[in-house]
Amino acid sequence: TLGGIDFAVADLSLAEFGRREIRLAEHEMPGLMALRREYADVAPLKGARISGSLHMTIQTAVLIETLTSLGAEVRWASCNIFSTQDHAAAAVVVGPHGTPEEPQGVPVFAWKGETLEEYWWAAEQMLTWPEVNGEHEPANMILDDGGDATMLVLKGAQCEKAGVVPPVDEEHDSDEYKVFLALLRASLAADAAKWTTIAESVQGVTEETTTGVLRLYQFAAAGELAFPAINVNDSVTKSKFDNKYGTRHSLLDGINRGTDVLIGGKTALVCGYGDVGKGCAEALKGQGARVSVTEADPICALQALMDGFDVRTVDEFIGEADIVITATGNKDIIGFEQMKKMKHQAILGNIGHFDNEIDMAGLERAGDVTRINIKPQVDEFRFADGHSIIVLSEGRLLNLGNATGHPSFVMSNSFANQTIAQIELFTKPDEYDNEVYRLPKHLDEKVARVHVQALGGSITKLSKDQAEYIGVDVEGPYKPEHYRY
Ligand code: NAI
Repeated sequence: TLGGIDFAVADLSLAEFGRREIRLAEHEMPGLMALRREYADVAPLKGARISGSLHMTIQTAVLIETLTSLGAEVRWASCNIFSTQDHAAAAVVVGPHGTPEEPQGVPVFAWKGETLEEYWWAAEQMLTWPEVNGEHEPANMILDDGGDATMLVLKGAQCEKAGVVPPVDEEHDSDEYKVFLALLRASLAADAAKWTTIAESVQGVTEETTTGVLRLYQFAAAGELAFPAINVNDSVTKSKFDNKYGTRHSLLDGINRGTDVLIGGKTALVCGYGDVGKGCAEALKGQGARVSVTEADPICALQALMDGFDVRTVDEFIGEADIVITATGNKDIIGFEQMKKMKHQAILGNIGHFDNEIDMAGLERAGDVTRINIKPQVDEFRFADGHSIIVLSEGRLLNLGNATGHPSFVMSNSFANQTIAQIELFTKPDEYDNEVYRLPKHLDEKVARVHVQALGGSITKLSKDQAEYIGVDVEGPYKPEHYRY
């Protein structure tokens, strides 16, 4: 604790560097800056205590400071052990007007290269609001990416209700989940109502990504969602931009910083041709790689073929690929036996949210595989026959582990949706049940419009006659709900 702020970051002296990059990022994030201007006099988030779990990058720093400029109090942690940019975390703690000696910003619990124990410790700190004048006021909003913060609150409350934490399933539980259960066990022993109190106080959660949204729908279907949720991912200006165009940029950034191998002429395999897979495949093709795709969904497989990519199975193609990228949001995509069949020094990386797409556990468990660390987040794994593969970020999302994630302009779209969703759930608690909602289309169009203007595009204005002819309002929305873009 310094200057009344509790925090845990790598090095506060990096704050000035972080602040310089935040200043440049603000110019590239017109959506967030427009919201700051729009709500300058209203402070719609006054009274909101937002616990945020999202990659602690420079772009996220601009999001956090947008939320505070709209009146919110905020506590933050990263949603991945490798994704924090330490200068961004430092700058957020110090704040625009503080100094490293006297920080005046926001409590952040995040640094690059956390252990799993540290990761869940940070998540708990981010959700644990300090007492003010003897009063304990818990978090009343969650901003989540991947659903870990929501899971901690909901599962924690469930365990408190049952009076017991489920036992570890040694065979099936991931290391991450085992550490999570250990945290719940310690927390239950210390305070039997900690998570219940938070769950009752939370007015809503806004969720950033495909994988977290899937978890939310699963909680809702089981009747276990204790508060309303907004699925930010499925705003068109989120998933059709961040997941696709963001990835198109940051996949290559991660591969280049990790390996600097020439991509042109190589053979690449992208597993999954959803929004993220489409961005990955296009990026690799743009570099001159010969790209194949795997898909389970025939519609996406057909899209891949129409876009000029071969559609293969992993087993058919794994022995030919120089670069293999998983982007499915599913588990068990590349198994140990398949890794053994990969070419010498082929690159293997994941860009999906969790690290269960690649069987890292199998690789670590195998007695006859040698791990040679090349540099942080780049490892060579040598098999018994002497050939090896290069694995990026230990199978965790490589664009944030090996590089700095998506650039500001695309995150401005995503985070404008996040901010609008926070305002919705915080200011209109009576209008939402404990279900998962999406933002209305006119807000999606509003986010897009700001970014079109920033890029200098001129949008055609429909005449009243034209609007009537195609059955829309002159001011939008311009498409029916079922339109797919
Ligand atoms: P999506 O649902 O649009 O696409 C995933 C695709 O994978 C689907 O088409 C599905 O049919 C396919 N698939 C599922 N299982 C498969 C299997 N066994 N083999 C082959 N294909 C399979 O999801 P989206 O939006 O593309 O997201 C994918 C993952 O990336 C999620 O975990 C998401 O949270 C994450 N994500 C990561 C980002 C990053 O910056 N690293 C940014 C945005 C999303």
